Amino acid sequence: MKLMEIEGGIELSGTIRISGAKNATVALIPAAILTDEEATICNIPEITDTEALCDILKALNVDVKRASESIVINPQNMQNIEIGEQFSKKLRASYYFMGALLGKYKKAVMYFPGGCSIGARPIDLHLKGFEALGAKVTNEKNKYIVEAEELHGANIYLDIASVGATINIMLAAVRAKGKTVIDNAAKEPEIVNVATFLNNMGAKITGAGTSTIKIEGVDYLGKCFHEVIPDRIEAGTYIIIGALCGNPIKVDNIIPEHVDSLISKLEEIGVDIQVGADYVIVTRGEKYKSTNVKTAVYPGFPTDLQQPFTVLLTQSNGKSKVTETIWENRFMHIPYLNDLGADIVVKNQTATIVGKSELKGTNVVATDLRAGAAMVAAGLKAEGKTTITNVEHILRGYEQIIEKLTSVGAKIEIKEI
Ligand code: UD1
Repeated sequence: MKLMEIEGGIELSGTIRISGAKNATVALIPAAILTDEEATICNIPEITDTEALCDILKALNVDVKRASESIVINPQNMQNIEIGEQFSKKLRASYYFMGALLGKYKKAVMYFPGGCSIGARPIDLHLKGFEALGAKVTNEKNKYIVEAEELHGANIYLDIASVGATINIMLAAVRAKGKTVIDNAAKEPEIVNVATFLNNMGAKITGAGTSTIKIEGVDYLGKCFHEVIPDRIEAGTYIIIGALCGNPIKVDNIIPEHVDSLISKLEEIGVDIQVGADYVIVTRGEKYKSTNVKTAVYPGFPTDLQQPFTVLLTQSNGKSKVTETIWENRFMHIPYLNDLGADIVVKNQTATIVGKSELKGTNVVATDLRAGAAMVAAGLKAEGKTTITNVEHILRGYEQIIEKLTSVGAKIEIKEI
């Protein structure tokens, strides 16, 4: 087991370079099997979710070559066999193999996906989408079997603008016969990144990034080269850390537009933030105002930054409210923030934060990935030593977090116990 130790209360200064987006990477790797030739993807983050997906590729006999930040995926000798529970359980995004395998072979057999326990996380919309394209979905114990004689285009309306369902349906539809229209599609930048990747292979997708995506099925997908977009959630996490401890911190290699909603909120509470073409510079302030924030689908305030943002609001004067609208179980970090000295009450889906609180180091738990990021942010701000257990969650999504924070002056290390 690994734990993280942070000696907090230290000002941080320097530059943190943001890695490729986890939530794009975890879809791009399964999407790569759709090519009939070879796909090269660069700016791949070295996180455990990437490893877990490469393990699935290898189990399917896909040729995978990795060199620092790039990956070359050649599925020409691939075998479409069942994806076992030991693979599927490691992360939520293993489910993208269902759409990709269905699209390519008209059949996918996979055990239930895993991932953070931040809500019920049904995948009914993915499955309904597959069915609309002509697939039959059966569920045997913990296993999904999705198969079709032929996939045909369809008009699909998503009841919820789900990121996962939008991408999975896109993956299944790119090689279907005819035209698919996904209405009320999710608009997250990661979806645009995946659509661009597929179009680079020869797919015909238009409208990604809007709520209507149109896909004209094709028979063949060729060789392609692609780059993962910068991780807006990793960027947002370090921007928040900058607002807590930066003297200043430059968060580099980002697309600032992707974190617009966060930047607006930071400006509203009085954070000193300068926005450049592909970076932001954040300096910590002594006095922040309180605010109310509600998570929403893109371009709204991201649910994945809600947890780190609550940490910053403990440093605002007065009463702030954070309302979570996407996931039912995303306040698991709150009891630990209170242990660190915060004053937060959660009722229904709203956390009421009364600040400003002096945070003091103690023992806390990373209950999920972004709760873990919140613990890191809080530990860096808190005076004294904070010990975080269950750090495996954090390592699923933050590349070289120890190295990046150490480079700006943080005292942080991971210990194996
Ligand atoms: C993705 C992100 C995750 C982020 C979330 C919302 C990845 C790997 N993960 O997750 O970090 O928090 O988007 O921005 O990209 N829903 C259903 N039925 C479905 C699918 C979803 O009811 O079939 C519900 C979910 O329970 C949730 C909401 O829709 O309440 C949004 O989920 P979705 O957008 O699908 O999230 P993920 O793709 O799982």
